[in-house]
Amino acid sequence: MKVSIIVPTYNERENLEILVKRISSSLRGEEYEVIVVDDNSPDGTWKLAQELSRFYPIKLIRREERKGLASAVIDGFSHATGNCLVVMDADLQHPPEVIPRLIEAVEGGADLAIASRYIKGGGVRGWPFFRRLISRGATWLARLFLTSVKDPMSGFFALRKEVIEGADLRPKGYKILLEVLVKGRYSRVVEIPYIFEPRKIGRSKLKGKHYVEYLEHLISLMRYKGKPQRLLKFAVVGAFGVLVNEGLLFVLSELMGTHYLLSAFLSIECSILSNFILNDLWTFKDRGHPGIRSFLKRAIKSNIGFGAGVFINLLVLFMLTELMGLHYLISNLLGIAAAFIWNFLIGVRWIWRKNNYKH
Ligand code: GDD
Ligand code: MN
Repeated sequence: MKVSIIVPTYNERENLEILVKRISSSLRGEEYEVIVVDDNSPDGTWKLAQELSRFYPIKLIRREERKGLASAVIDGFSHATGNCLVVMDADLQHPPEVIPRLIEAVEGGADLAIASRYIKGGGVRGWPFFRRLISRGATWLARLFLTSVKDPMSGFFALRKEVIEGADLRPKGYKILLEVLVKGRYSRVVEIPYIFEPRKIGRSKLKGKHYVEYLEHLISLMRYKGKPQRLLKFAVVGAFGVLVNEGLLFVLSELMGTHYLLSAFLSIECSILSNFILNDLWTFKDRGHPGIRSFLKRAIKSNIGFGAGVFINLLVLFMLTELMGLHYLISNLLGIAAAFIWNFLIGVRWIWRKNNYKH
């Protein structure tokens, strides 16, 4: 495969030559090009790129003004002539020696190969606690709502050109991979561990405003995927389930004299079933596979998954009340919240998960 390595730069003059040398020795024998996308860096990174292009296969895209990391990568994509596209930073925090493993994965059939900090063997060296925490939090949010990839914030990855062909990519800020994960066309993703090295020369361009941009980006991607609607429908169904549960509990134990624990068991089961049926017909209408067998399979999964949700609710209620001394009604609210998140995730990721309905 021909490889295009896209490198966004802003004031990276001191890193560029080392980067290009290390890429060149890592990719010896491969057909490749390096596409440097520079936003007219005041330190003259673009000029150095021009000089280096006499000795190395470098293409320079010099943009008039500063338009940001993610948009630089997209410009890089549109100038790439390879069929395997690699994206990486210029500052040597992404070790070029990892590139061959990314390419190998794509050549081996992966659509997307992500250099990952958050799988076994990966990690971060030298980040202060605060940056670590922010990165983990941001990653957790993306994984909660958008993707199951372990390091969706990685700025270091390779993909088959077809993944982004025709995709309407327009991310704000920094997180280009997240945009690709949501809007790209792919089926096989692999993650390859690497260590994010400390920056030796120059400074990070990540500012407070990028954190805000990230949240905006997250919300717009959730909209794109129709997530808020789904979440809302799921909540409405859940609230209805609570009514079913309470109503039946009342009818069974008060009006029919059933023991309250047996009534509770029956009404929990009924609310699980009503939740399942409503979600199947409404919330996840687009995800259901036709046929009675698959319907029953989802029903059983719902019983297991939502049953665990009930257990989580009780566990949180018990722990917060007994161990932290919270009032039990408050503990229960938190328990309900925890169970709600659990149920939604188990719904999206397991009961109605996407590849249930391969066409
Ligand atoms: N063209 C252009 N324009 N390039 C930019 C701009 C810009 O406005 N801002 C940053 N860059 C370039 C930098 O020169 C560098 O090559 C790369 O983008 C990454 O910028 P850093 O400022 O070093 O980012 P970071 O180290 O804090 O975060 C990086 O690594 C994380 C972990 O993989 C980014 O890639 C993050 O997106 C990523 O999560
Ligand atoms: Mn960096």
